[in-house]
Amino acid sequence: MQVSTAQAIERRFDDISLAELRQRHSYKWRAYPEDVLPAFVAEMDFRPAPAIVRSLTAAAELGDTGYACPQPELGEAYSRFALSRLGWRVEPTDVTLSPDVMSGITELLKLALTPGDGVVINPPVYPPFFRQVAEAGCTVVESPLLLDEAGYHLDLNGLEAAFRGGARAFLLCSPHNPTGIVYSARELEQVAELAERYGALVFSDEIHAPLVLPGQKFTPYLAASPKAAAQGIAFVAASKGWNLPGLKCAQIVSQSTEMRALIGRLPPSFGVHAGLFGILAAIAAYDEGGDWLDQVLSAVQKNGDFLAEAVRERFPQIRYTPPTATYLAWLDCRDLNLPEEAVDHFLKQGRVALGGGPPYGSTGCGHLRVNIGTTAAILEQVLERMETALR
Ligand SMILES: Cc1ncc(COP(=O)(O)O)c(C=O)c1O
Repeated sequence: MQVSTAQAIERRFDDISLAELRQRHSYKWRAYPEDVLPAFVAEMDFRPAPAIVRSLTAAAELGDTGYACPQPELGEAYSRFALSRLGWRVEPTDVTLSPDVMSGITELLKLALTPGDGVVINPPVYPPFFRQVAEAGCTVVESPLLLDEAGYHLDLNGLEAAFRGGARAFLLCSPHNPTGIVYSARELEQVAELAERYGALVFSDEIHAPLVLPGQKFTPYLAASPKAAAQGIAFVAASKGWNLPGLKCAQIVSQSTEMRALIGRLPPSFGVHAGLFGILAAIAAYDEGGDWLDQVLSAVQKNGDFLAEAVRERFPQIRYTPPTATYLAWLDCRDLNLPEEAVDHFLKQGRVALGGGPPYGSTGCGHLRVNIGTTAAILEQVLERMETALR
C-alpha cells in the first residue's frame, strides 16, 4: 500500500516503541528499573531531526570530536532563527556561547551581584532556579505566580514588592516551566519598567521558546521594550526544542553596552566547557530544523488536548490547563487526597515515574509534572498506570 508523505511523517513521530526507547542511555531511560514507565525529566521521545543526524554523523565520520570553541556560525544561525521564527532582530555578535543555560545564569549572577543579594523567582518553577541562585551566593526571593480560574499569571505587585524590599535581580522563566505559560508583550514591558525603576537586572531563561505551541505569540524579553534590552540578558538554546540537552550548548544574548560588558567579564575559558556536538547540532537545528519542530509542536498540542479530555473523563478530581508552550503538563492532584505526595503514590502503585511537585516550591505540593513529549500510545500507557494507582 502506498504511504502518503503526511502519513510517513506522522509515523516518524508516532511509531516509536518502548523497546526502542529503552535502548537509549540517557537519564530518562536509566533512572528507574525496567518495569517503571518514565515521564518525568524534560527529554522528548521523538526521533531526532534528520538535519541534526546528518550534521553529527558527518562530524563523527570526520573525527570532528575535539574541544569546543566559540564559532561565529552559531551566532549567525541563532540570528537567522530569531528573526524568522520569533520576529526578533539579534546581531550574531551579541550571541555568546555557554555550556548550558544554568551555568550561564549562575556565572553571570556571581559577576553581577554581591553575596547575599536577593534574586526573585516565580514558584512553582524549575527546581534548579532555587539551587543555582544559592550557588551564586545569592538569596532566593519567592514571588509565586498567581492562580485564578484562567490559570497562572505573573504577580507584578509581588515583583514590585520584592524589588522594593531590595532584590537586585529577577530570574524570569519564559515560557514558564512547569506551567507552560507564555507571557504577553505587555506583561514583559511592565516587568522591564519595574526593573528599571528599582535598578534591577532581569535574566530571562528562554530555553523553552522554540516550543511555543501553534496559535500562541512568544515575545522575547529583550524585544519587549528598549528598557528590557538595557537591563536584561536572555539565555536561549536549541536543547529543549530539539532534544539535545546532553550535548551541552546554550547561548547568552545581550543587546546593550552594559550587558555586553557584564558578559565580557566571563572567564575566557567559559565557552570551552560547551560540547562541539552541541554547537553543530544547534546550528543544524536553527537553520534546518524548522519543519521537524513544527511536527513536534503539532504532536505535543494533540497530546495536550488528549490529556485534557482524559483528565475530564478519567481523573475528574485532577485540575489541568493544557500548556501554551513546552511539552510539560502541570497537574493539580490535591483533590485526589492521596495518603502521600502524588509522585510517590503513582510511582509505587502505578510504576509510572512523573515529576514531583514539591521541588518546584511550596506551591508545587500535591502537583505533578508529566512529560507529554512522546507518542499518543505511550501517553495512553502513562494514563493507564495512573488509573491503576488510583484503583
Ligand atoms: C527553564 C529551564 N531552564 C534551564 C534548563 C536546563 O538547561 P541547561 O541544561 O541548558 O542548563 C531547563 C531544563 O529542563 C529548563 O526547563
